[in-house]
Amino acid sequence: MEQAIYQEQSVEGMPEVEDLFNEMRKEFKGMANELIPMLQRVQRMLGFLPEQALLEIARLTGLSTARVYGTATFYAQFRFQPAGKYIIRVCRGTACHVKGSDRLLDTIEEYLQVAPGQMTPDGLFTIETVACFGSCALAPVMVINDSVYGSLNRSRALKLLDEIRVREEANIKNLSLS
Ligand code: FES
Repeated sequence: MEQAIYQEQSVEGMPEVEDLFNEMRKEFKGMANELIPMLQRVQRMLGFLPEQALLEIARLTGLSTARVYGTATFYAQFRFQPAGKYIIRVCRGTACHVKGSDRLLDTIEEYLQVAPGQMTPDGLFTIETVACFGSCALAPVMVINDSVYGSLNRSRALKLLDEIRVREEANIKNLSLS
């Protein structure tokens, strides 16, 4: 099993993984061709693929851990670290690069104090980079969850992040008052 992707993650005794697999055992037969649907189910429920889940899928399907790991890492849809509530994807394609996406990414990293692939300590944001969104005419492009923001400059990007923070803080305040 490749360890590098799990360097900073403790997966010891994750009860949510155990609960999830108790459910999955009822739904899946443990066939090799269920590998990708199982990976997708885990990610949909947990937001990422903990190492414990990959080992359990290997056990259930009878596939080697190398095969499970190799399949999971082959597809960009799968992640191996927990993700924030808001996933910020900054395009690093040529059109966006020409329009300053590097500076945009630097600004966001500095503002959130995390690097691409990492989640902020409050669990709110994860930064990712993408090769191209296919919206090059809108360069530079950033996507927050499913919302696309084009022709961005640094101040507008920070304003978007501020708005999310303010909204989330207000939600927390409302919850604590109710
Ligand atoms: S290069 Fe950024 S959307 Fe295509």
